[in-house]
Amino acid sequence: MDFANKVVLVRVDFNVPIQSGIVLDEARLYQPLETIKSLQNQGAKVVLLSHLGSTTIKNKEQSLKNLVPYLEKIYNSEIVFIDDCISKKAKTIIASTSSDKLILLENLRFHIEEELCNLDFAMKLASLGDIFVNEAFSVSHRKHASIYGIPKFLPSILGENFKKEIKIADSFFGTKKFPKIAIIGGSKLHTKVNLLKTLVKEVNKLALGGGIAGAFLSYLGNSTLRIFNPKEFEEDVKEIMSNAEKNDCELLLPIDFSALISSDTGIDCAIISSEHDSASIFDIGPETVDLFKKNISESRILLWNGPLGLFEKAPFDFGTKAIAEFIAQRTDENQLVSIAGGGDTGFALKKFGVSDKFTHISTAGGAFLSYLEHGAFPGIDAIV
Ligand code: 3PG
Repeated sequence: MDFANKVVLVRVDFNVPIQSGIVLDEARLYQPLETIKSLQNQGAKVVLLSHLGSTTIKNKEQSLKNLVPYLEKIYNSEIVFIDDCISKKAKTIIASTSSDKLILLENLRFHIEEELCNLDFAMKLASLGDIFVNEAFSVSHRKHASIYGIPKFLPSILGENFKKEIKIADSFFGTKKFPKIAIIGGSKLHTKVNLLKTLVKEVNKLALGGGIAGAFLSYLGNSTLRIFNPKEFEEDVKEIMSNAEKNDCELLLPIDFSALISSDTGIDCAIISSEHDSASIFDIGPETVDLFKKNISESRILLWNGPLGLFEKAPFDFGTKAIAEFIAQRTDENQLVSIAGGGDTGFALKKFGVSDKFTHISTAGGAFLSYLEHGAFPGIDAIV
């Protein structure tokens, strides 16, 4: 496409954690850097569109205005902020702004029409530019106006980072570099059931940690992890286990745990390996770490989503940290291609100082899971 002298609308995902105007994790603000700089170098005037949070009530905390000082520093450009994404004055401001500046529209979700994928709203947004670039992989699993609607009205393409995310996820499934291992943790089993069903058909080994492992252990008769009602996911667990067997996928479950145990004398932290009435489990134990490490060593490509324990709180960061450091080391030694994704996972890897050692870390949460599960979603369908 010829971008010279064109107004290019770039959908980004600046949905960053923010508290009293302070951005707690800036990673997402950097993601569209390459695309935006390249567009500017080709003579385009760039208008940024994003959501922040999900409220439709206009408020200061979720105003994208909070990001202006951060973006000015990261992009080394003046940011012209427009306080309503479809305001009448938006067009005039865009027309009078020079292309060395970046234009940032106010939070799209302050208009309920965004999440409803209202096409009138999408058309109003589209009328502000000549070309649309979707550089928001991490929200493109949502059928929203700025994701699915705008491409109906403008010539549209996917951004560089978006394409990279797809390429990496595809490479995990398409690769010939066997054997493959997936490590899935976290506590929200309902959000990962379908992914697990897909993975057991694709990987050689599937290691489970976090609360998710509890549903499997309960099904197998070990009620140590009583996070779930064992009956709730029984059918899913049964299906996953039977498909794992059929597809020669080795299922790796925790064999010991780090727990808080209450007794008459108080509460103590201990490693346990069997059922215990008064234990609250918060992490995998050292034997499980060794088991997972051994299997990671035997693998050449790895996918990780979801922490293996309560990594925010020592000593329950042990399992997630030990595995993160081991993967980083294997990747560094060129023994492993490592792909990680999900908000908590990315945060944990950053906390343990190994982010730059992984082959790829996606900042997408739900979108990362959704793409792995379905291999497609609205943001891609609308453009490709
Ligand atoms: C995310 O943070 O995962 C994306 O920005 C999507 O946000 P949402 O879950 O509020 O749609």
